[in-house]
Amino acid sequence: MSSQKPASQTSSQRAAAAVIYIIAIVLLAVPVIEWVANAAPFYADPYDLALGLFNLPGRLFALVGFTLMFYQFILGVRIPALERVFSRATNLKRHQTLGKVGFILIVLHGIAILSYDWVLAGQFLFDLYRVLGMIALALLIIGVIPAWYFKKLKLPRKVWKTLHLSAYVVFPLGFFHARNLGTELATSWMVEGLFTILFVVFCLIVLFRLYTLAVRK
Ligand code: HEM
Repeated sequence: MSSQKPASQTSSQRAAAAVIYIIAIVLLAVPVIEWVANAAPFYADPYDLALGLFNLPGRLFALVGFTLMFYQFILGVRIPALERVFSRATNLKRHQTLGKVGFILIVLHGIAILSYDWVLAGQFLFDLYRVLGMIALALLIIGVIPAWYFKKLKLPRKVWKTLHLSAYVVFPLGFFHARNLGTELATSWMVEGLFTILFVVFCLIVLFRLYTLAVRK
């Protein structure tokens, strides 16, 4: 058995890693803090069971799940600058783990908000931006489940990889859906600004991906 140790990081790689961790934590902390600011007064004096049980948790799941989803593009695409700090294997491992957590949170978001609508209105609501969310969720399930269970399902790599590309449609759909419905996005310029930055970076990643594909041909 090989006892080869992974090459240790240089001090500049360690510094770059620390900066990346700080950015990743801040990206998650901002929406969570804004959510706590909105939710705390309600939980201190709850007046609406459905809001506390479904809507507020559903919003938290969405804010964290969406941010984790953004990380997946950074981790999944081979960004040379990132691969100088973390190995490709490390990025892929994190992509798989955080991707699963983000997926579960987004599914829980859909379930929680649908439950809230049902309790409040006695039916599911189908306005444009909710429907965008539903389409995004359906595409997300199509893109993630085959990739998660490709071994058990015995799926050829080409099949699950192609389905996995649906993530590139889910993210912008989720963004427009959230911008038009989300309470935290509507009430906090920081969350709105941050999510807009995530969307712009996502667009740059798509361009980078198209460029690398064109160069490879
Ligand atoms: C069945 C599917 C879905 C439904 C019914 C749904 C519904 C909603 C509703 C009604 C809101 C506004 C909640 C509020 O502020 O009171 C919302 C917010 C949000 N949704 Fe969805 N959604 C679905 C799927 C998705 C998906 C797939 C994503 C991500 C890809 C997503 C991301 C978000 C985000 C980030 C927010 C903003 C939360 C906030 O600002 O508080 N949703 N959703």
